[in-house]
Amino acid sequence: MSDRELRVSKIRDGTVIDHITAGQALNVLAILGIDADSGDAVSVGMRVPSDRLGSKDIVKVEGRELSQDEVDVLSLIAPAATINIVQEFDVVKKHRVERPEEVVGVLSCPNRHCITTEDEPVESRFDVLDDGIRCTYCDTIVRDAIAEQIDVA
Ligand code: CTP
Ligand code: ZN
Repeated sequence: MSDRELRVSKIRDGTVIDHITAGQALNVLAILGIDADSGDAVSVGMRVPSDRLGSKDIVKVEGRELSQDEVDVLSLIAPAATINIVQEFDVVKKHRVERPEEVVGVLSCPNRHCITTEDEPVESRFDVLDDGIRCTYCDTIVRDAIAEQIDVA
């Protein structure tokens, strides 16, 4: 790739989340709990050209790896994403996200009376369906607005 094509600088150590569904980068940041105050060094590319996807988003987080729970939720909004672990400028590990059977944490149940949203030490848990997710505790189903359930607390 020539210098003219490089839009977002390479990173030395950290995680590159590539091939994110165009338009989902800000939701990916929310899943990772990254906001103006979080202190992480982060680069974001939105709707950059991609051979494979036509157009894609890309997020690079320096000095940090992702938890499996974060990757699981990420797969729901960016099913074609690739997770690249970078060390000393080299990609040392690369894998596609996989749709999990359940997701734990990160999302909150929209049911205000669900045990996971009451003042109890119960972590959220959803079964992953073909077309949405279902709270394991109260059976509430979320279909279209999964990104709206990202926990911003
Ligand atoms: N990357 C980075 N910093 C590095 C190394 C790689 O930001 N030090 C980024 C690249 O810009 C690319 C992604 O990590 O967006 C994956 O890098 P690489 O595997 O080298 O690129 P490709 O072979 O194009 O990846 P793929 O086949 O997954 O599209
Ligand atoms: Zn619930």
